[in-house]
Amino acid sequence: MKDILTAPFMTEMIRTATNMYYHGWNERNGGNISLLLEEEQIQDYVNSNTVLCSIPTGFTAPELEGKYFLVTGTGKYFKNVQYAPEVNLGLVRLTDGGGTAELLWGFTDGGRFTSEFPAHMMSHVARLKVDPENRVVMHCHPANLLAMTYVHTLDEREFTRTLWQMCTECIVVFPDGVNVLPWMLCGTNEIGEATAEKMKTARLVVWSLHGIYGAGKDLDETFGLIETAEKAAEIYMKIAHLPRVTTITDDMMHQLEARFGVKGRDGYLA
Ligand code: 13P
Ligand code: ZN
Repeated sequence: MKDILTAPFMTEMIRTATNMYYHGWNERNGGNISLLLEEEQIQDYVNSNTVLCSIPTGFTAPELEGKYFLVTGTGKYFKNVQYAPEVNLGLVRLTDGGGTAELLWGFTDGGRFTSEFPAHMMSHVARLKVDPENRVVMHCHPANLLAMTYVHTLDEREFTRTLWQMCTECIVVFPDGVNVLPWMLCGTNEIGEATAEKMKTARLVVWSLHGIYGAGKDLDETFGLIETAEKAAEIYMKIAHLPRVTTITDDMMHQLEARFGVKGRDGYLA
């Protein structure tokens, strides 16, 4: 067996968690990541017949039967992932129709997967139906997106349009826009189901007064998606209290659609 800490998916996961921490998105244990892996990616690094322990998930997800996920642990600090990946991360396989997670590596202090595992797994199911290439679900607490949910309407069209207006390339990076959930109790199946429902139509889902979820085909793309939305929210929080003299118009956004071959969400542009 090769050393799993040298696996490309592992080094990428560690770099991403570290980078997210340094962006200030993951204070203390805030945030979580799950990365879907294929059997071929892990077979040189772990013996998939050796199950360290079986953990009930509390939900079902038959679509994910037999799938492998590298996932952050509950209560674990992103700050520490780079120093002790085997404590802060775990590699699990879903069995029993998604009702059980078999631990194959990690969580060496007896820990377990993130409390937001339902939201992650249900979001994977939803995104895979839209895009079979989807591999990543990422949750974090970026300050400006969070701040925006206190002062901006939570109407999804309005929220999306405001973000699109803040940086020229926003509509190119997230043409499907941003969906928004009202405040809900985190760590529950209910918020998981609600998040997955929102993931059917957008790769970004804001959790009001809490944070954001992003989904994408790899860690870089998903990080970049949240990074772009957070930059837009930062501009908004810098200018929201000032008179708006200039803005990105719908006509400009139509020009961007044509130039970059994207299509903004139906009905969101005039
Ligand atoms: P976990 O420590 O369980 O991953 O929870 C962090 C979080 O951000 C909850 O929404
Ligand atoms: Zn959170």
